[in-house]
Amino acid sequence: MKNKFLFFIAAVMAVIFIVTGCSSDFDYKKADVDTSVSDAPYSNARIGICIYQLNDDFMSLFSEEMVNYLVSLGFSKDNIIVLGSSNNQAIQLSQVEELVEKKVDVMIVNPVNASIVNSITEQAVANDIPLVYINREPSAEEESNWEEYDLDVTYVGCDARQSGIYQGELLIDFGVDKLDLNKDGALQYYMIEGAPENIDAGFRTMYSVSTLENAGIKMDCLLDEVGNWDMATAKLIVAKGLSQGLVPEVILCNNDAMALGTMEAIKEADLVPGKDIYVAGVDALPEALQEVKNGGLIGTVFNDYISQSHSAVDAALKYLAGEKNEHYIGCEYVKVNSQNAEDIIKEMGSNTAVEKREDD
Ligand code: GAL
Repeated sequence: MKNKFLFFIAAVMAVIFIVTGCSSDFDYKKADVDTSVSDAPYSNARIGICIYQLNDDFMSLFSEEMVNYLVSLGFSKDNIIVLGSSNNQAIQLSQVEELVEKKVDVMIVNPVNASIVNSITEQAVANDIPLVYINREPSAEEESNWEEYDLDVTYVGCDARQSGIYQGELLIDFGVDKLDLNKDGALQYYMIEGAPENIDAGFRTMYSVSTLENAGIKMDCLLDEVGNWDMATAKLIVAKGLSQGLVPEVILCNNDAMALGTMEAIKEADLVPGKDIYVAGVDALPEALQEVKNGGLIGTVFNDYISQSHSAVDAALKYLAGEKNEHYIGCEYVKVNSQNAEDIIKEMGSNTAVEKREDD
């Protein structure tokens, strides 16, 4: 692997020397960056943002907040390019090429999957473009290359194990006796997973259940399916399960979009979420927070897109200023139940006071 990477670096250097026009227009090494005010030291800097799928509810909030924050810091909207990759790795690779051709000064990428990360890193490094990955963590091997070769590449995200543990704890805190509606000493449950081979989905699935089991609760899985982080897909899965007579007490969803779809399916089966079946999500989407407040959802886990989007932009700014970043920039999840949902709603309200992006 090391030899392969050294060869890659040699090739990169050759490309940098041979190809003219690879260096950026904006001289970020000399930029006098002041992140506290909007005196627009970045007005000429161009930033390329690539999101695995723009109609993902959570990533849409995340990318909007990055744009708002960039604009509040003095970036010109015209210099912020946001591309959605329709969950297609070929599309994403060609979009990264497009951003390179457009000579962006820094890239923020939410990869479609871990297997294309190495190609994206190669393109960025070969063209001297600093790179911030978000939300979908690259492999440990990839991250160790950034460290070993001192590349201007980093990752911003939370540890999904924590969100799984918190989801399990939300149920424990609620009270297993209340959840065990049929009083058989076990929790019958559905698991609605995010996406195949996705770290967040894998860890949330595993750790939510193991947290409950480690607390001595017998878990009885009736159905485990992939909902692709999507409300409509989750709704179909749950509707099918209920129509087949699989009666769950609890439905654990890897995210809130799927929890909201689950709630719809429960209602359409003439059952009451939060009474006949308990549902939990992750993300703290605004609609989900209202449901937690009203008791429709038992809880959610705040996946703090505000701090993550700001950290990603701050890391990009440091690169623009010619400074280094740690190669892993973490964040904390927060458990949300009916007691603190209102606080989180208020917190999000005050934090989103930055200018909103216009729909062009
Ligand atoms: C997760 C988030 C999901 C979805 C996913 C995409 O962190 O909770 O809602 O956006 O990322 O990879």
